[in-house]
Amino acid sequence: LNTFAYAQKTTDISAVSEKTLNSILEKNRTYSAQGKVADYIPELAKMEAGAVALSVVEKNGKIFNVGDVHKKFTMQSISKIIALMIAVSEKGEANVFDKMGYFGTDRPFNSYINLETAGKPLNPMMNAGAILTTSLISGDGEKPFLKVLEMVRYMTKNSAIDYNKSVYESEKSTGHRNRGMFYLMKNNGLISGNEDQLDNYFKQCSIELTAEDLAKIGYFFANQCVRFDGDSTYKNAEMAKLIESQMLIAGMYEFSGEYARTVGLPSKSGVGGGITVSVPGKMGIGVFSPALDTHGNSLAGYHMILDLVKQYGLSIF
Ligand code: DON
Repeated sequence: LNTFAYAQKTTDISAVSEKTLNSILEKNRTYSAQGKVADYIPELAKMEAGAVALSVVEKNGKIFNVGDVHKKFTMQSISKIIALMIAVSEKGEANVFDKMGYFGTDRPFNSYINLETAGKPLNPMMNAGAILTTSLISGDGEKPFLKVLEMVRYMTKNSAIDYNKSVYESEKSTGHRNRGMFYLMKNNGLISGNEDQLDNYFKQCSIELTAEDLAKIGYFFANQCVRFDGDSTYKNAEMAKLIESQMLIAGMYEFSGEYARTVGLPSKSGVGGGITVSVPGKMGIGVFSPALDTHGNSLAGYHMILDLVKQYGLSIF
């Protein structure tokens, strides 16, 4: 219900047009030259730094796409909101958040300091909490990953979506910091399974999609877990509220406070260069540009979102 209260504050969005979106994209294209493509996962370093795409799905399900909309990229940390939804629907919110906090952060996405100080992750958006979240999804072997994949396919109504095996292998063979967190949490009694569970996290991060797919995911959480075409199989206002609140306070990591101040919308970034944005009760936005800022968030993506929010008065504040 609150999501609709937010919606009333926004201005009329019927004016969304491809022309306006194009000018926002062109104005911000230059930021892609100022950021840096992620290379700590070697395979990601191969991405084309200059790619830029912007997609919007309006309330009525109408889709606008501009820029490199056919370019695929890996969703990386954006997969964390899907895994959280599945873990909470299976285990219940109390059981999931008994093992981690609802806290915001002043730390980068791969910080694990809290595993030592508090004995558990800060939140499910940073890597530690996300690895733990995925381990809470039921099923042996890659079953938990397949649930995440199926949910992404459902939300986007795109059954062709799969994961990028090269990116997966690349992270699996170099992701020792995440592996370290996995074993610290096993040591703390938070994780009970074997490394298949970590592989599921790496696989979900490697799910490959487009900016339009991200806009549809943003739309889903903006609209009480109702899909862009109106399908309400998973309708759940409380779930949407939980996911959106985590996106708002930690979805952009240590940049989340400044992002909330300037953009004011629940959003989730990934080091593949994507950001998915939920405009509560209204639309979903997906952006892609792989050159990142120092926090691991898409630089041109952030600036496109900022302009879109200003143009259409979308902030929830
Ligand atoms: O675990 C990692 O480091 C990556 N697979 C995901 C990190 C990420 O996307 C952070 N977001 N901006």
